[in-house]
Amino acid sequence: MKRILLFTLPILIIITIIIAGFGFLQVRFEEERLMDELKRKARAVAESVELSAKHILINKDHKSALKLVESFQKRERAQGCVIYDKDGQIFVITEKIFEWKNINKTDLANILLTKKPKDKLDKYKEYSIYSYILPVLDDESNILGFVEVIYDTSYMFVTLTQLWKRITITLTILLISITVITLLIQRQIFVLPVRRLTDWFKHFQKGEIDKLRPSILEEGEFGKLISEVEQVALSLRVARKVVTDSAKIRLEKEELWTEKKLRDLVQARLGENALFVVSNREPFMHVFDETIGKDVLIRPASGVVTAIDPILRACGGTWIAHGAGNSDKNYVNSKNKLGVPPDDIRCILKRIWLTKEEEDGYYYGFSNEGLWPLCHVTHTRPSFRENDWNIYKEVNRKFAENILDELPAKNPFIFIQDYHFTLLGKMIKEKRPDATIALFWHIPWPNPEVFAICPYQQEILDGMLGCDLIGFHLQSHCNNFLDTANRLIESRVDTEKFSVIRNNIETFIRPFPISVDFRNSDVTKNEISKIEEIRNELNLKDKIIGIGVDRIDYTKGLIEKILAIDKFLDKNLQYKNKFVFIQIAAPSRTHIKRYHDLMAEIDDLVEKKNWKHSNGNWKPIIYMKRHFSPEEIKPYYILADFCIVSSLHDGMNLVAKEYITSKSDLNGTLILSRFAGAARELMDAVQVNPYSIEEFSEAIKYALDLPVEEKRKRMGNMRKIVKENNIYHWAGSIITELTSLRKT
Ligand code: F6P
Repeated sequence: MKRILLFTLPILIIITIIIAGFGFLQVRFEEERLMDELKRKARAVAESVELSAKHILINKDHKSALKLVESFQKRERAQGCVIYDKDGQIFVITEKIFEWKNINKTDLANILLTKKPKDKLDKYKEYSIYSYILPVLDDESNILGFVEVIYDTSYMFVTLTQLWKRITITLTILLISITVITLLIQRQIFVLPVRRLTDWFKHFQKGEIDKLRPSILEEGEFGKLISEVEQVALSLRVARKVVTDSAKIRLEKEELWTEKKLRDLVQARLGENALFVVSNREPFMHVFDETIGKDVLIRPASGVVTAIDPILRACGGTWIAHGAGNSDKNYVNSKNKLGVPPDDIRCILKRIWLTKEEEDGYYYGFSNEGLWPLCHVTHTRPSFRENDWNIYKEVNRKFAENILDELPAKNPFIFIQDYHFTLLGKMIKEKRPDATIALFWHIPWPNPEVFAICPYQQEILDGMLGCDLIGFHLQSHCNNFLDTANRLIESRVDTEKFSVIRNNIETFIRPFPISVDFRNSDVTKNEISKIEEIRNELNLKDKIIGIGVDRIDYTKGLIEKILAIDKFLDKNLQYKNKFVFIQIAAPSRTHIKRYHDLMAEIDDLVEKKNWKHSNGNWKPIIYMKRHFSPEEIKPYYILADFCIVSSLHDGMNLVAKEYITSKSDLNGTLILSRFAGAARELMDAVQVNPYSIEEFSEAIKYALDLPVEEKRKRMGNMRKIVKENNIYHWAGSIITELTSLRKT
């Protein structure tokens, strides 16, 4: 519509200017014509009474004079007539205008001098009038007096106004006709063919091959363009088919899971059907940075993003997530989509907008004050509010509708992330029973007694069991879920197949321990210089350096970590001045009071413990409370002699695996909470119970005192595990499982 306006508006403006110009000239001509006509008439009338006036003035015949001026009232548009004596005194005047005192000294002097008539436009009461004064001369050309005739000119104004009206009506009809004709022509030659092409593309995108025939028949240049576009689209299909076939062949040869192997798997198994991933957190956020006064692109601190990002980079597809960045709206197209990563586009990110109220109820309220503490055994009481639950349902519905809009015609694959979307599986399945849906639960699943606290347990389980596959990190989480389904909802649990059957849908429950993108790369020059920079800036020379990277969350055991470091320094004075622990902490969910209070508590504790142990310039804890990108974090991992992951309860914890991935020189020790899912795989980490500050502090000492060879051996073993069970292995296993459940 905007384009059509852009096209027609200039035409309409030009036509308006031309017609208004012509109208103006026409009115001017008409005005002049009417004025001329009036002048001629006034002169003729004045001259016609000149002779009678002469007699009247010579004979001072007042009676005839009266008769003469009164006869004027009958003339068309004439207001009256005045006869003056030679001194300019009114001799006689038409009664209707008896208050008229027009003739003034200068006019009189002028006419006496020139003996020529004089006219002018003037006002009399509410009338616009025209006056014409004619000197009356005797036979020797001496002035005897004057005759003045007066005409009403308002009829001219009426005539000109009518003329303007006619011009305006003509112009309006013309403009409407031109607009309608342009719209019709545009529709015929542009809008309809484009609409046909758009429909064609929609069917093509959705894989509705049967609807692509017959191809679009258009003539002329536009027709040529359409046929070219059709060719490109069809070649794309052929190319995809070839890629799928060759991917199948390559897949059989490779052993270790890599980005390439995963891409081959997706191409071989999914073929032309792209993957749809849904998560609350988006992989890239556009945020306005007030300190530099412009928008910046950030990678949120999130386990989901760390895990899913390499998969979509490898496979393409569409990632649907909440657009939470305050500048996000400035970077999407009309369908709220953008290609990501922006500098090397690999997949499409579709941003879903939520109102503040929706974010409050669905994200902060139900997801993070309800389900999050419910699933993490950290003794923070879950809060379930009816209003939050209602909003949570609405937001799940909103996501479902957006996903349904995107799905191809047949057998789509949808991969849902986490506790934010427990209802999505069922909502999608109701509309698209042919969809194959997996849900991965990134946090722990509690036992049935704990889950039974949730007032909406039935609806949540019912929603989740709309999926074909539910993945957890650990077998124990799978067992808890099967127990929960068995006890809390009407269903049949098959303990051999590890599945739950409800409403004729069978949902398979499987453990898929999540991981990271393990790359065996040497430290780059850039990283070396960055490490040197950090070493100098933070005064780390000759220090034993520890690292912790966490979102500020009560599940991460940050308080316990600081207390353990404090105790370690109390008991091991030889480490004073020699030991520095860098804690990178990303603020998170800060609108929730528990998180807000935790931030203040940590600030306070770090300050107290640093004050207690500090000596000159040295302090044991460097607390960096801000968001760091993965690229910024990596030099700290490389630099650190040990890393502490102190989660009180955690689904997996990818920081542990990221640290291991960065240690290509094997020089590093991992101190890992036994309550993080990662502890099941990483048996060579120094494992601790973070609740026991005593044990924790001893574990730090133990880790630091390990012989170098032992440290290297442990790190080597853990690297082998992460290398084999990397993120591509995780995604490959889920996709293999998911595609084997494919609906036909
Ligand atoms: O890994 C669990 C998880 O809740 C993810 O779902 C989430 O992306 C991450 O932690 C970070 O939390 P948030 O997205 O609420 O900042």
